[in-house]
Amino acid sequence: MAVKLTWLGHGSWAIETEGHHLLLDPFLNDSPTAPIKAADAQADAILISHGHFDHVADAAEIAQRTGATVYSNFEICQWLSKQGVEKTEPMNLGGAVDAPFGRVKSTIAHHSSELPDGAYGGNPGGFLLALAGKSIYFACDTALFLDMKLIGAAGLDLAVLPIGDRFTMGPEDSIEAVKLLSPKRVAPAHYNTWPPIEQDVQAWAERVRVHTSAEPVVVEPGGVIEV
Ligand code: NI
Ligand code: MN
Repeated sequence: MAVKLTWLGHGSWAIETEGHHLLLDPFLNDSPTAPIKAADAQADAILISHGHFDHVADAAEIAQRTGATVYSNFEICQWLSKQGVEKTEPMNLGGAVDAPFGRVKSTIAHHSSELPDGAYGGNPGGFLLALAGKSIYFACDTALFLDMKLIGAAGLDLAVLPIGDRFTMGPEDSIEAVKLLSPKRVAPAHYNTWPPIEQDVQAWAERVRVHTSAEPVVVEPGGVIEV
């Protein structure tokens, strides 16, 4: 059974797998490119990569309304608990948990993670997901790092990489990331939300085709990728 990923703009994704609804880094109400609002989001699990506003913004509201379980680092889980989120699965880098929908591993990211109110947001991370027999890696907000080779070692059906530059790796480094990860397919994220992270995504896709063995998959916000 296919895993269905819907890009909700920026670093936000809705993931459907075997009847489960996951949300990654929901930033909807204040995102200029999100195709839905937080009130319309469906979730039984919410994954949060780090503490920045454009990743945690709507997490508490959606978790409270849906009763979804939040998977994130220990500090962000605690912060969300204080806002009335009842179910959390705290993790830390390198650790994995078996969830009702699959396996979630917390991977390193080179970034920062302060929460919107100035609280310490722990270490930023990415996620390696095993869903319905598929391996999907979300780098989330990060610079390029050589250990991506380890993350891709067991084989990836899809890697989702930031290409916006300025706050994360840009197109050039994302090509190096694809070479290290060797995924079958690669999708871009964290670009074209605002002018400072505008990118020519078709030019990026062409570079992926020319310089790597991965197939680029580009969708508009609201668009679906099946894995
Ligand atoms: Ni960030
Ligand atoms: Mn971000």
